[in-house]
Amino acid sequence: MKKISDRIFYVGVNDDDKALFEGLWPLPYGVSYNSYLVVDEKVALIDTVECGFEEEYLDEIREAIGEKPVDYLVVNHMEPDHSSLISLICAAYPDVKIVVNAKTVPMIKGYHGTPEERLLVVGEGDTLSLGTCSLNFYMAPMVHWPETMVTWLPEEKTVFSGDAFGTFGAVADDPTDEEGLFEQYRDEMIRYYSNIVGKYGVPVQTALKKLSALPVERICSTHGPVWKECAFDVVALYDRMSRYEVERGVCIVYGSMYGNTAAAADALAMELEKRGIPYAIHDLACNNAGELGVSGALRDVFKYDTIVVGSPTYNNGIFPPVETFMNALQARLIKGRRFYAFGSYTWAPASVRLLNERAAAMGFELLGEGLPFPQAYTEQKCDMSKLADLLA
Ligand code: FEO
Repeated sequence: MKKISDRIFYVGVNDDDKALFEGLWPLPYGVSYNSYLVVDEKVALIDTVECGFEEEYLDEIREAIGEKPVDYLVVNHMEPDHSSLISLICAAYPDVKIVVNAKTVPMIKGYHGTPEERLLVVGEGDTLSLGTCSLNFYMAPMVHWPETMVTWLPEEKTVFSGDAFGTFGAVADDPTDEEGLFEQYRDEMIRYYSNIVGKYGVPVQTALKKLSALPVERICSTHGPVWKECAFDVVALYDRMSRYEVERGVCIVYGSMYGNTAAAADALAMELEKRGIPYAIHDLACNNAGELGVSGALRDVFKYDTIVVGSPTYNNGIFPPVETFMNALQARLIKGRRFYAFGSYTWAPASVRLLNERAAAMGFELLGEGLPFPQAYTEQKCDMSKLADLLA
């Protein structure tokens, strides 16, 4: 437990054991599931945590409020990383009322069999008094599920924002930020956004507009630090990402079976390096320890304006790990990117043509016909120097 202010206590947990968030996204620095107590004449708990932390979680809560009961459990978001321990809270605090909105009702019944009489259904702008302070509720659909809402505590100028402004990465014992912490989390925040919320740029923009009417001084998200000193930087980054705004630079993404497409990718990286062009390179087949695969590639697609994709021709199609990446781009409605494709083939050059077709369908600007090359990579067959000049 950590005291955030006179009324707010952090009772979240760090998960350093889980390898893949949502079963998909690597967690090299862990992740936190944040939960908060607002302690007044009444006690409100904002969201719960993932299962596996039952004992630790109840201990944290009891450390903050002793034998006092939890009067309200506010469910901002029903994804199980935040809702798994709802039943535990109901068992520990039999009189707790669960504060939800209408869209949450079928989900909480379906996941937990929660009876109707336990639910307190709130709508846009509704207020719940806790005594000397009050909670206000604002809907934020699709940030990240349709039932998502945020909770505003005006007396503390604090927003409990759900997944919005969240990041991968465990938090320190004192989760409140200090100057400069944002830079430490910046890359993991972009990766979190691009992996989890990236499809929902328009709803994030809508939520940001709504929040801009509030004098927010503290952001209590469900993942990552409590943002106070760095709140401005965090909001600015989410604003840029949800507009799909990027800087000039190249995200090289490739898969390779026998190293020829990989050699071409490395050659391009070297040429970009020589020219001082910002770039990132990702091996989707994850041949090296620590590779983030699609997860890391998506992060850098949200940073840079140019995507260069390498795929060998495989079964007369795109190499499957690269196809997965293209599907991920499409799912996130990425727009406004320059695109170029390359890759090795042995007898039929299909992959580059198919990659170009997919990129064109997503509205990307094709920078050329691409560079399919037969069999082994050589500089003569696949001139990455020329391509680097084109990308500059
Ligand atoms: Fe962290 Fe959408 O749950």
